[in-house]
Amino acid sequence: MRYPEELIEEIRQRNDIVDVISGYVKLQKKGSSYFGLCPFHNEKSPSFSVSPGKQMYYCFGCGEGGNVFTFLMRYENDTFQEAVKALADKAGVKLPELEYSEEEKKNNEIKSTILRANKDAAMYFYHQLRSEQGAQGYGYFKSRGLRDETIVKFGLGYSPKYSDSLYRYLKHKGYSDDVLKETGLFKYREQGVYDAFWNRVMYPIMDNGNRVIGFGGRVLGDEKPKYINSPETRVFDKSRNLYGLNFARISRRKNFILCEGYMDVIALHQAGFDNAVAALGTAFTHQHAALIKRYTENVLVTFDSDGAGVKAALRAIPILRNAGIAVRVINMRPYKDPDEFIKNLGNDEFEKRIQDAENAFIYEIRMMQSDYEIRNPDERARFYEKVAEKLLTFNDEVERNIYIETVCDEFMIPKDTMNKLVYRQSLVYTGEKENTGEQLPKKQNNAERAEDGMKRSQRILLTWLIEDTDIYGKIKELISEEDFIDGFYKKVAKMLFEQLEEGNVNPARILNSFESEDEQKEAAALFHATLGEKMTAQEKEKAFNETIRRVKKNSLEYASRNATDVATLQKIIREQAKMQNMYISLS
Ligand code: UTP
Ligand code: MN
Repeated sequence: MRYPEELIEEIRQRNDIVDVISGYVKLQKKGSSYFGLCPFHNEKSPSFSVSPGKQMYYCFGCGEGGNVFTFLMRYENDTFQEAVKALADKAGVKLPELEYSEEEKKNNEIKSTILRANKDAAMYFYHQLRSEQGAQGYGYFKSRGLRDETIVKFGLGYSPKYSDSLYRYLKHKGYSDDVLKETGLFKYREQGVYDAFWNRVMYPIMDNGNRVIGFGGRVLGDEKPKYINSPETRVFDKSRNLYGLNFARISRRKNFILCEGYMDVIALHQAGFDNAVAALGTAFTHQHAALIKRYTENVLVTFDSDGAGVKAALRAIPILRNAGIAVRVINMRPYKDPDEFIKNLGNDEFEKRIQDAENAFIYEIRMMQSDYEIRNPDERARFYEKVAEKLLTFNDEVERNIYIETVCDEFMIPKDTMNKLVYRQSLVYTGEKENTGEQLPKKQNNAERAEDGMKRSQRILLTWLIEDTDIYGKIKELISEEDFIDGFYKKVAKMLFEQLEEGNVNPARILNSFESEDEQKEAAALFHATLGEKMTAQEKEKAFNETIRRVKKNSLEYASRNATDVATLQKIIREQAKMQNMYISLS
């Protein structure tokens, strides 16, 4: 389901990027570009550039970039289709009704039937909780301090003791096995069909439209497993949903509280903290972080204070930070989780703990410190090295310096020592792309390094061609899109070579064909990089020839690995020989 490419391009052309972005950001002209304060990260001096020539924007501070569509997707949290629609309206372009393919129609139909079955199941569990056989379940919720209105708000229920009562109920309602199989609510076995949930209290999981997309079920006692959760289905993508988000998104509070479990979310909401959410039955992912970022840039983390909880928190924090979210950690000691805390100390105390929540970076360092025997000089040195490594994950120098200050004060580390360590490590740090926040720069093995080197040459060559389109004439006999082995670069190369062939380079148009924000961002970075401004003409020529040779060499090696007949191999060998003598003069 897409609008025709020509139409998307027309809409893009009718919306000048400087006009559009000026509606959101104050821009000032400097040379051939416009500059302003980046709306996607905090900064004091402008590093956000908008190029009318390329019809693209790029932030040299945080790496955000794209065309008019990307901008709206990022700024307004639009989908690609929504951004196209908004700009079409703005320019007075009429959009055709979208045509769904047969397959899409079928998929939508199945999805809505699954959602209907889920809703019927939730209603069934809900009524069971209030029936005689559900008394135990109801008693359980009461014993955990839930009020009736809370039980209703979260649609909590109970699955009876019989092993197929839900199955019989839904069959009776007319659902086919084809659909029921896909709900994830049943186990299809040779002997028959069984309910996946029985004798458990039930927590329906809802999406933002309050549709039931899955369930969690808890045992009433201490049996294992304590919770079971629906599997992923056509309607349940675990990394794109958060428990409680349907309520938290309309909370008046300015931040989100991220916790670990169903009961934490429910207890917090009951206590008036209606901004609590949790990732359920799955580890916290960068998709979760991106989802949160749509609503807030401030997150308070309250994971369990046991070992597993700390570990999960230490995983989630860098992911959140990397999404541009400011993170603080709530101290719940002496209690295990927010549910217990509130039951024992009450809302006001919890509110105080929110005020006192610790900066997540300091928290991370503090947790790290506990692995070292600080009084031992060797261990202390190792700890300092670790701290320096972690400080280097801040790309922004101003931010990094502030953290160096704060961390040194907090942990009584001599500042000049830390400055030196950070500087020394920055020389070996691979920086940029590797720093995705999930992990510190790790030592790469040879294969990974070769892979990176290969991609780097492909990227440099593309940037070069965009920067200096005249070069194309000199390389077109040598290099084609087939020489780009990385799938993403191959796609860009194909479009770029077509445009170069027509003598009409239009990077913003190339971006239209990438619907995902990540790819648009990567393409924008490609088009905004500048190469070797400080190089002499001679150095530039040398670097250029090396790049071409490397791209070609990689591509020929790749081809020879996949060649199956002698003729192809011989052709590759001839080309390899030709490369030996190749030299392109840039002047
Ligand atoms: P907890 O064991 O901390 O859950 O696991 P909780 O919500 O505090 O449980 P109560 O208070 O004893 O009822 C945190 C989350 O991890 C998932 C659930 O989403 C749970 O809420 N979990 C835990 C499972 O999926 N399966 C399990 O067996 C245990
Ligand atoms: Mn817990």
